[in-house]
Amino acid sequence: MDALASRYHDVYAHWQRNPEAFWAEAAAAIDWYDKPTKIFDSEAGIYGRWFTGATCNTCYNALDRHVAAGRGQQPALIYDSPVTNTVKTFTYGRMLSEVQILGAMLRDFGVKKGDVVILYMPMVPEAVFAMLACARIGAIHSVVFGGFAAKELATRIDDAKPKVILSASCGIEGARVIPYKPLLDAAIDLAAHKPDTCLILQRPQCEAALTPGRDHDWRAVWEDAVNYAKTSECVPVAATDPLYILYTSGTTGIPKGVVRDNGGHMVALKWSMKNLYNIDPGEVWWCASDIGWVVGHSYIVYAPLLHGATSVMYEGKPVGTPDAGAFWRVCAQHSVVSLFTAPTAFRAIRKEDPDARLLSQHDLSHFRALFLAGERADPPTLQWAEDVLKVPVIDHWWQTETGWCIAGNPLGLGKLPVRYGSACVPMPGYAIDIVDEANHVQPENTIGSIVIKLPMPPGAFPTLWHNDERFREAYLAEFPGYYKTADAGYKDADGYVYVMSRTDDIINVAGHRLSTGGMEEVLAGHPDVAECAVLGIKDELKGEVPCGFIVLKSGVTKAPLEIEKEIVALVRDKIGPVAAFKLAITVARLPKTRSGKILRGTIKKMADGEAWQMPATIDDPAILDEIGVALKGKGVGA
Ligand code: COA
Ligand code: AMP
Repeated sequence: MDALASRYHDVYAHWQRNPEAFWAEAAAAIDWYDKPTKIFDSEAGIYGRWFTGATCNTCYNALDRHVAAGRGQQPALIYDSPVTNTVKTFTYGRMLSEVQILGAMLRDFGVKKGDVVILYMPMVPEAVFAMLACARIGAIHSVVFGGFAAKELATRIDDAKPKVILSASCGIEGARVIPYKPLLDAAIDLAAHKPDTCLILQRPQCEAALTPGRDHDWRAVWEDAVNYAKTSECVPVAATDPLYILYTSGTTGIPKGVVRDNGGHMVALKWSMKNLYNIDPGEVWWCASDIGWVVGHSYIVYAPLLHGATSVMYEGKPVGTPDAGAFWRVCAQHSVVSLFTAPTAFRAIRKEDPDARLLSQHDLSHFRALFLAGERADPPTLQWAEDVLKVPVIDHWWQTETGWCIAGNPLGLGKLPVRYGSACVPMPGYAIDIVDEANHVQPENTIGSIVIKLPMPPGAFPTLWHNDERFREAYLAEFPGYYKTADAGYKDADGYVYVMSRTDDIINVAGHRLSTGGMEEVLAGHPDVAECAVLGIKDELKGEVPCGFIVLKSGVTKAPLEIEKEIVALVRDKIGPVAAFKLAITVARLPKTRSGKILRGTIKKMADGEAWQMPATIDDPAILDEIGVALKGKGVGA
């Protein structure tokens, strides 16, 4: 279908003419206890709030109403776990009863409306039940990705102050079993706030010792609840009440607690399932992310269930579990119609099976589209996916903060032509401008800061958890009237958006968002390090990986190689394996401008093997030669 045949431009223009009418129509797809008194209340919150006056329950919309409408026997969740050799299907009816029981268990541990529950869990169905059980009883969940270390978990415990923590004895990463319980215990030791209760799901691969008084065996409590026929009802909450907090990397070591509300989130996600992803209720959809990330929250859990679709939950990797044909096997076995994953997963598959030979063993005749996000879809990977799958491959851009797509190619409205390197066009709800430092709108094809006109659409965050000030300062202060995405890029003459880089210290490692500032704090904490800089350098598989430069204190006698090893271990210990920090390089000095700013851009170009020029402002040009030698010593750069 070409641009003229797509309904996109009409629909976007309808939203522009009357945003409130647009979102009121979309809100009709959600069941409310009390309808909104205002679709948008510009007086409420920091930049206004959506659907004020309404009451609702997200779990009711994800489960109960589908069962009431006759979908009780339809699969809601297919758990496919090559690492445990398990495939299990949960119908909407079964999911509802599991969530009712878990809601009752949480309530019995004293969790009430407005209380926070942290989940530190691997990709198991109980994690989805737990998110929905929190939503059911009006509690606020905060999922922490399993690849984060104890210290990161502790920071989130102290900020969110959970009453209860839900965890499991272990996660399984390929062939390795990763015990979670020691990390949880260490985090609770480090944190000032102590949860009343921890509920631990024992997995047979590695059972955990429970701390008496605090820890409970998930299954034992569940059996008890079943024996006493315990259940829980949906608690009505305000549309503007928080559904969850999800921490994401900010420009310092302190993560930002992105708050998601109930009403706007449901309306936006439900709208996106048909109009953007072109999925109908009853179809099988697979989002191969992790519930620890926003993509997993929105498109493994909430959106497919709100829509009455079937969601695949995959506990495995694109390669190695057991091979690069795993994604094709899952798509064929469960009749998946569309898959959403990060480009890095396809780079991994392509690297192992460049001719996609393993694809021929599987029947993908029902497969309609591949969606990529989390990082820019590099054109070679996108083209390769198109060639082997022979379906549309759609890059789309979004952030933890927005909760759903900012710019994409809305297949449900009629596909627009794909332009390699572009995330396509703004979704209704988003008016995107490119501005310079003085907040002046830039002409087409000119790079600048990508900003979104306020108000943000339904689904986007209203604030940061207990931190309105940081929200204003981080997102609204620099470009008045706009939300700052901290991404840089441009729009072409047809309004296609090209997202090229971050404007802050965030790097994107295998689709995971990480702060180099946070890593520098860890490096600077090593007793032998005088000065340091961490930057993201190109990586064939992960897109970017961090590289740390350290200058040692004078008088240090320990071998630099040993200190570098300690630094690598320190980042793994303080931030977690997800940081993929494997490269530390000792240098005598760091190159700086005359005003003392480290020349990160130049070092990055050298490390990436790109052409670079001597900056006019450099303090001492000889230092760049030293950096070149150090990089060469590690086999990095040209
Ligand atoms: N619990 C514990 N450890 C975890 C973890 C978890 N949930 N998830 C990842 N890790 C660990 C990994 O085991 C690895 O540890 P290692 O350094 O000991 O090998 C490290 O964190 C980095 O993980 P990852 O980035 O996943 O790299 P990988 O080398 O294991 O796999 C890819 C590479 C490309 C296959 C993988 O990154 C991938 O599938 N990415 C998909 C991206 C994605 O889902 N993004 C979400 C946003 S859409
Ligand atoms: P996260 O909040 O973890 O989802 O990361 C959001 C960031 O990832 C964005 O601000 C971008 O820098 C990057 N990103 C996500 N999707 C894309 C995309 N399709 N194209 C370019 N960058 C992307």
